[in-house]
Amino acid sequence: MRLFIDTGSVAEVEEIAQWGILSGATTNPSLLAKEDGDPGDIIRRICDLVNGPVSAEVVAKEPAGMVAEGRALRALHEQICVKVPFSAAGLAATAELTADGHPVNMTLVFSANQALLAAEAGATYISCFMGRLDDISVSSTEVVSEIVDVMRTSEATSEVLAASIRHPAHCVIAASLGCEVATVPGKVLKQMLDHPLTSKGIELFEKDWQSRPEFGEWLSGLVASHQVPA
Ligand code: G3P
Repeated sequence: MRLFIDTGSVAEVEEIAQWGILSGATTNPSLLAKEDGDPGDIIRRICDLVNGPVSAEVVAKEPAGMVAEGRALRALHEQICVKVPFSAAGLAATAELTADGHPVNMTLVFSANQALLAAEAGATYISCFMGRLDDISVSSTEVVSEIVDVMRTSEATSEVLAASIRHPAHCVIAASLGCEVATVPGKVLKQMLDHPLTSKGIELFEKDWQSRPEFGEWLSGLVASHQVPA
């Protein structure tokens, strides 16, 4: 499962892109509204930081407006994927945008029926919101599992993108159910790093290594002898 970062913060992308684990990013109007500055600049800067698709969302209500916004957003950067909210209008806009060769991330999908419609409209990604399903006591595991199953059995080419990830367990569930992508907030990606046994293990290795000072000298010498001339 590939990982995207779900954010409107350039600083957050800058920090986490250095880990080498990001395949893309997603933004939405709520995430961008929390940030200072021009949304176009933010989206372009995020594109320059991640080597993959960056979703930017349309807000028009009618297909023609959605298509016009989608085309304009695509012109911001070659990595832009147009994010379109699920609705009848959104399906019509998705069909038109994808027929023109624009990738679309159909968002706010909460059922297998909606996913089937999004796939038929040609969506590249289908974003299922796990946290928001759990918020209303609907099992996100069951819904995502059903979506993945119908995508496979209908031989749809759309990728299932797990969104509204609230904690590391959502990521593991999404991966084990077969989602192709999860878009994860920076806070949750940082939580995924942590395990007390890892920190404890690093501390112990360091202490044991330092108990033999000659090992440090040996390693420095080894590194120096392998320096590649610039
Ligand atoms: O990508 C959509 C996601 O950001 C929604 O997350 O936590 O607002 O439900 P949340």
